[in-house]
Amino acid sequence: MASQSGPPLDAPAREQWGSRLGFILAAAGSAIGLGNIWRFPYLAGEGGGGAFVLVYLFCILGIGMPYLFAELSLGRNSQRNPVGAIEAIVGKRSAWLIVGGFCVLAGFIILSYYSVIAGWAVGYAVKDIIAPGMGFEAFVASPTLVITLLAAFLGVTLLVVLGGVEQGIERWSKILLPVLLVLILLVIFRSVTLEGAGEGISFYLMPDFSGLTTEIIIAALGQAFFTLSLGMGAMITYGSYLSKKENIATSGIYVVVFNTVIALMAGFMIFPAIFAMGVDPATGPALVFVVLPEVFSQMPLGGLVGVTFFILLSIAALTSSISLLEVVVSYFVDERSWSRKKSVLIIGGITFLMAIPSALSQGAVPSLSAGGIFGPETGFLGFMDYYVGSLGLALGAFFLSIFIGWVWGADEAAQEMMQGSNMSAQVLSVWMFVIRYIIPLVVLVIIIGYITGTL
Ligand code: PHE
Repeated sequence: MASQSGPPLDAPAREQWGSRLGFILAAAGSAIGLGNIWRFPYLAGEGGGGAFVLVYLFCILGIGMPYLFAELSLGRNSQRNPVGAIEAIVGKRSAWLIVGGFCVLAGFIILSYYSVIAGWAVGYAVKDIIAPGMGFEAFVASPTLVITLLAAFLGVTLLVVLGGVEQGIERWSKILLPVLLVLILLVIFRSVTLEGAGEGISFYLMPDFSGLTTEIIIAALGQAFFTLSLGMGAMITYGSYLSKKENIATSGIYVVVFNTVIALMAGFMIFPAIFAMGVDPATGPALVFVVLPEVFSQMPLGGLVGVTFFILLSIAALTSSISLLEVVVSYFVDERSWSRKKSVLIIGGITFLMAIPSALSQGAVPSLSAGGIFGPETGFLGFMDYYVGSLGLALGAFFLSIFIGWVWGADEAAQEMMQGSNMSAQVLSVWMFVIRYIIPLVVLVIIIGYITGTL
């Protein structure tokens, strides 16, 4: 029954991606973001370089990719947002709807603080104009700067989502992603031709397993979910605009490959430069914003490379924030029958208000910042990133994989995935096993890791 479930026959025709390439670029755009260019390099730097990269790749291929197929299948099956997708399978009264509701809420919250960081990236692209010579700490503590930048970034996100699936999200992803690729190649070229770059390349590529800890393995697993936009229904929502003729596995593989290539390329932009400049790779989250401008300032053509780099980071963040907003918007459009315009404007407004405490949590308001009510080390933004962006995604992926593997049924999910593809029975049965057993188990380990505070 479940695989026949879906929207009622009299429902208005649902928007769909205009082309296969359009879907792949939009989904890859969702995946590729601050996670690849800001988070991955600093985690790899902290995790000892090559060894982290290898574990991360394993997590992406072994866990992230099969789970991505599952989210896409669930979305396409029902052609609905995360709540509607679950409802189509278990009905209106099931407690499983809470998981869908959590996805929508997580979309709201992640979008709020994600837009703050993206706003910094926008600000750094034009920093010589708006705040020349200002250090990172002063920059992020300036309420006028961060709130204006947040508003600007969120405003652009709203405009794109207002345009709808094909004319907004798909059209812009098709333009922005290729631009991003070209810009990255440019920065890599600059970075690897610096004197002393070789040491960075070998740190990045030669795995040294002697320093590998469970903590690093857990961090690599968490990063795999974050970077592929998994665990909060973004890929359920994007899958819901997929036609039944599309091949979920092939399209999904493209998304994984693009996302992984961009993350690996981000490493090639950053590590050679860091080593050439003698900077510590384990600098942490500040790596991009504090260290790189320093690195750029010391290298030939650095001004241009710096501006290019932060434009690129903003573009990557935009194609991700679009998908975060779309999860929430699709819920209100599908389930509450709001118009797209009304949803975008109301949700955008609320997200902006919710983002303000995050924006002010880097020194502008001491009680919201590190050392205030959220603990000695993190402010409101870090608190949200930890409990929603990390623990929340892991919990989401855990419950959704149980839901897909056991409640909907791995065989039903496999049937959905089979439509439009010619996957062999052996591959399918391996996939079903992974969805039912491997993923919930591994994710449980991540969650226990978070809870016991290893991360
Ligand atoms: N994948 C995005 C990134 O790497 C972040 C994201 C997470 C987007 C969850 C949507 C949903 O930046």
